[in-house]
Amino acid sequence: MTLLENDPDAGLAPLEFAVTRNLAAAAAARRDEILANPGFGTHFTDHMVDICWSVLGGWHRPRVQPYGPITLDPAAAVLHYGQEIFEGIKAYRHADGSVHTFRPDQNGRRLQRSARRLALPELPVEWFVQSLRELIAVDGAWVPSGADQSLYLRPFMFAKEAFLGVRPANKVAYYLIASPAGAYFTGGVKPVSIWLSEDFARAGKGGTGAAKTGGNYASSLLPQAEAYENECDQVVFLDQDRNVEELGGMNVVFVYKDGTIVTPQSDSILEGITRDSILQLARDRGHKVEGRAVSLDEWRQGVASGDIVEVFACGTAAVVTPIGVLKGRDFIDQQPVGELALSLREELTDIQYGRREDKHGWLVRLDG
Ligand SMILES: Cc1ncc(COP(=O)(O)O)c(C=O)c1O
Repeated sequence: MTLLENDPDAGLAPLEFAVTRNLAAAAAARRDEILANPGFGTHFTDHMVDICWSVLGGWHRPRVQPYGPITLDPAAAVLHYGQEIFEGIKAYRHADGSVHTFRPDQNGRRLQRSARRLALPELPVEWFVQSLRELIAVDGAWVPSGADQSLYLRPFMFAKEAFLGVRPANKVAYYLIASPAGAYFTGGVKPVSIWLSEDFARAGKGGTGAAKTGGNYASSLLPQAEAYENECDQVVFLDQDRNVEELGGMNVVFVYKDGTIVTPQSDSILEGITRDSILQLARDRGHKVEGRAVSLDEWRQGVASGDIVEVFACGTAAVVTPIGVLKGRDFIDQQPVGELALSLREELTDIQYGRREDKHGWLVRLDG
């Protein structure tokens, strides 16, 4: 496949990264100990990538350097106005030892869309993908090989200019860090319970809902805490018209009894790459797929009448997760749990881990 088909940046010369090795890198025995039980988001590899951007110099000083704290001026704009975006993507080790990632061009493009919305510079997709390769070149040993394990890659970009005026920053930093991740579900995939947020919204019309920016997640923390108080795993948000948006960190998908698959679509929802991929797999199986508004009433009535036969959530971290319960202030709706979610999950993870043919050319090798 041509990785960057129709990409205006295709054909850009690669960046020349200056590589500084971490002399205090974890010993192999310590790394193996971490990889045996990595958890999620608590351990980090030995290196990180950083690329600077300025209005005058454009993208410059690409580096691979030892992982460690970042020095920021206390007036750095990100600390005051939240001009920040990020991505989440995984690297998978295949049985032959090779390391692959999944549709990185899509994450690169989404980072560009987020950048546009947050008035940040757009990193060319070619260089985004190159940054993943550069990190794997030094930290490839951190990609675990256990069942359902991966190396979670976290690219992010923020305004580092020291200036308290409210305007787009003239100096920006792009970083990439990586964290080994264990199986999201230990002991098999379990349906999650969802709390319906009635008092808090995640995004508004014309807001930043479609961008992967820290503020969206900051505003989801209080409703997420409310979900925990109500003994739910996750929170689902509605828009101003009481249409279903998404969970704090996953998209929602409904399966109808005629096999049609429907997922909420609006400009306030993050366009998930997992969702896009499993909907393609569903289309390949002959399912009709619709992206449109889905009201809370349609959801609740569809479940009550039996028209909706399955509801699931999807995203990079947990892949595909059946929704077992929807709980609101004055109701608890048990959700029908079918088999499509789990079979799509299996098909997708088989492709990601190289156990099944990659018919769509989604995998990109990062090592070697
Ligand atoms: C708010 C939100 N929605 C949806 C998703 C799913 O996106 P993806 O499948 O690209 O991981 C994410 C990230 O995982 C997210 O943070």
